[in-house]
Amino acid sequence: MCGIIGYLGDREATPILMESLKRLEYRGYDSAGVAVLELPKNGDPTRTSVTKSEAKVDTLIEKLESNMPSGRLGIGHTRWATHGKPTYINAHPHTDCHGKIFVVHNGIIENFAELKAELEAAGHEFPSETDTEVVPHLIEANYKGDFLAAVRAALKRIKGAYALAMFSSDDPELLVGARLNAPLVVGLGEKEYYIASDITAIIPYTKRVLVLGEGEVAAVTPLGAEVSTLDGVTIKPKIVHVDWDVTQAQKGGFAHFMLKEIHETPEAIANAMRGRLSDEGLISFREFDVPNEQLRNLNEVVLLGMGTSLHAAMIGEYVLEDWVGLPARAADASEFRYRRPTFGDKALSVVITQSGETADTLVALHQAKARGALSVAVTNVIASSAARDSDGAIYLHAGPEIGVASTKTFNSHLVSLYLLAMQLASANGRISLERRRELVQALRVLPEQVRAILARDKEIVKLAHKYSKYRNFMYAGRGLGYPVALEGALKLKEISYVHAEGTSGGELKHGPIALLDDQFPVVAVCTASSTKDKMVSNVHEIVARNAPVLALVSEGDRSLDGVATDVFEMPAVEEASLAILNTVMLQLFAYHVAVKLGQDVDQPRNLAKSVTVE
Ligand code: AGP
Repeated sequence: MCGIIGYLGDREATPILMESLKRLEYRGYDSAGVAVLELPKNGDPTRTSVTKSEAKVDTLIEKLESNMPSGRLGIGHTRWATHGKPTYINAHPHTDCHGKIFVVHNGIIENFAELKAELEAAGHEFPSETDTEVVPHLIEANYKGDFLAAVRAALKRIKGAYALAMFSSDDPELLVGARLNAPLVVGLGEKEYYIASDITAIIPYTKRVLVLGEGEVAAVTPLGAEVSTLDGVTIKPKIVHVDWDVTQAQKGGFAHFMLKEIHETPEAIANAMRGRLSDEGLISFREFDVPNEQLRNLNEVVLLGMGTSLHAAMIGEYVLEDWVGLPARAADASEFRYRRPTFGDKALSVVITQSGETADTLVALHQAKARGALSVAVTNVIASSAARDSDGAIYLHAGPEIGVASTKTFNSHLVSLYLLAMQLASANGRISLERRRELVQALRVLPEQVRAILARDKEIVKLAHKYSKYRNFMYAGRGLGYPVALEGALKLKEISYVHAEGTSGGELKHGPIALLDDQFPVVAVCTASSTKDKMVSNVHEIVARNAPVLALVSEGDRSLDGVATDVFEMPAVEEASLAILNTVMLQLFAYHVAVKLGQDVDQPRNLAKSVTVE
C-alpha cells in the first residue's frame, strides 16, 4: 500500500522527505508528492509548497531540487492507487477548500462516498477521484480553531482503514498522525520527530519509535509526541528500539518478502472485503457495478488465469457452480486463446491476475470481449491493463506483493471470488438470507483464523524440515482441496526446485500412484468436505505403497491417526474458508522447505513476478 512520511524538527524538511520517499519505493507505487510548510519571509504569510509527480520519486526530486521548499514541517507520500487512477490530481497530499490543511493517507475509507456527498452538499469541492480527499475537508468542516480537536472529530466519522500524516498551516509547530487498520509509527529523534507508514522510511535517522495503536492519534510538537484516543484520552505508548537495517525494515523484520507477505494475509483478505460485504451478505463492488437484471441474464462464467491465478480460477469454478448453480469453467488462458470460443454475450469472463499484465491472460480477455462477454478483472493493480481492458474490476487492495511466488494475493483472489459468487447467487435468488449471513460470519472471522494458522509456524517448520530430505512430492485433494493441492505443489516446486505435482484424489489410481514409494511423500488435503471419506480411502491406498503422508485434517478427525505419517489439524470451518487456511499452511510449508534447502525464496531462478510475454 502507500508510503507515508512526516517530519517536524529543527532541520530542513524537504531533503528528509525526499530521502525517506526513496526508501519507501520498494513498496511499489505509481505517484508521489510532498507538502512543506514554508517559513514566512519578511513578514509574508505562511504558505505551503506542494509538489507532486505522477511518475517516480526521482521525477518528484528533480522538481523539488529545481526550487527547494524551505521549512521544518512537511509530509510526503508514495501512492499505491486504490480509489482513482494514478494521475497528478489524484497524487497526495490532498488539501481542503482553503489550502490550509494537508493530508497523506494509506488505507481505504469505506464510507467515503457518503462523506463526500455530505461535504459536497455543504459546498466543498473535490478535484480528485480519491477517497483520501474527504479527510482534509472533513477536518475543515470540524475546525473551530483547534486543529487536533478537528482531526479527532473528523476521524470519528471515518470507517475503514487509515494511516495518516497531516498538518495545518495555522499550526506551524504541529504534525499529526493517526491510524486505524493500517500501520503507522512515530520516530523520536533529537529535537526532531517523524511519522511514517513503516520503519524503513526513518531507519537512518532514529531507531527509537513508538507504534501507534488502533484508533490512536499522535500530536507531534517540538516538545515531543503525545498520543491519545479519538476521545482525547491520553495514552502512554510503548517506545521500541529497532535495530534493523533498511533491508530488514523493508521486510518488516521478516527474513524474506515472501514470509512477510504470507503474514500480511489477514490484512489482505480483510481489505478484499472492506466496504463490499454488508451484514446481510449483500455485495457491492465500486468498480464493477452491474445491475442485477444484467447479472441474472448471464448463462455461464468463464474464469481465466495462469499459474497460481489459474488455481484461484479453479476454486472460483467450484464455488460459482455450488453457490449459484451457474455453469462455470476455469481455463488455462494460454490454452483458451487457441480454442474455438463457444460462449457469447451472455457469458461473464473473469480474468484473475494479480499483476494485471500477464500476456496470456490479456489475450484471452480480449478474445472473450470480442465474443461480447461481460468482463471483470480480479487484480491487485489499479488501472493495470487487465483492469483497463475489462468492463469492470474487483481490486484486491492487498498491497504490493514483492516475492515472486504469489501468496497473500492468491487468498485475496479467493475472497474476491467468494464475494462475486455471493453477488451472483443473490442476483439469481439462489441463496437464502440465512445462508448469506452464514457466509458473512465465516468471512468476517477468516482473518483471525488465518492468524491462528500463522501462529503455528513452529509446527510447520518442524514438518518442513522433516520432509525437506525428499526430492519428489505428490499433493492430492478433492473438491476445493484439488486446486489447493495444485497450488501447494506449485508453491513448493517454484521456490525450492523440488519436484512436486498435484493430482485429484480420484486420479491417483489412474497413473500417479505408480510413482509412489517410501521416497515419494504425499501431502493429502483431507479436511472436512463432502469427499473427505474418499480422501481417507486414498490415504490408505497411498500408505499401502509405503509412501509417507502428511495429511491436513479437520480438528477432531481421528480417522487418519496411525495411518498418515503426520497429521496437521485445521479448524472445523466452511469448506471455502478451509481452502484459504489449508493454502496458508502449505505456503508456509513450501517456504520453510525452500529456506532449509538454501534457495532464493524471493527471486527463484528462471521466474518473473509478472509474465508479460507469451
Ligand atoms: C505464482 O506463484 C507464480 N508467481 C505465477 O504462477 C503467477 O501466479 C502467474 O504468472 C500469474 O500471474 P498474475 O496473477 O500476475 O497474472
